[in-house]
Amino acid sequence: MPLIEWCDQYSVGLEIFDSEHKKLVAIINELHDSFERGVDRSVAEHALDELVEYTVTHFGHEEQYFEEWGYPDKAAHVISHQQLRGQVLEYRASVLAKGGIEMALELIVFLRFWLLGHIMSEDKKFCQFLRDKGLR
Ligand SMILES: [Fe+2]
Ligand SMILES: [Fe+2]
Repeated sequence: MPLIEWCDQYSVGLEIFDSEHKKLVAIINELHDSFERGVDRSVAEHALDELVEYTVTHFGHEEQYFEEWGYPDKAAHVISHQQLRGQVLEYRASVLAKGGIEMALELIVFLRFWLLGHIMSEDKKFCQFLRDKGLR
């Protein structure tokens, strides 16, 4: 059973960002599965790299829309992204340094909490702004 089951209440109402959020959820589920199976170090490293890379890509994409559409609350939203980027990188470094499965599980629990919370509040608010501008 996946750690996070996608449901409609997570939808921000824009296909483009829903599909990116679903991809993030899929990566977190994959990470969770692989740690539960007890993967070797190189698999864990690869999964963490994929997570970092896709997180950076996704945040960059949202931030590009802030600029293009003149989103008024962009400053606070960018700070949230920066904080998460920093925390994910820190976790990644400690998982790799200590090779700790507990640390990896802590990261996964943290990500689930953070990502769903962020989607439900800041991303929904931002996407509502885009929808009000006519974006579908
Ligand atoms: Fe997002
Ligand atoms: Fe966001």
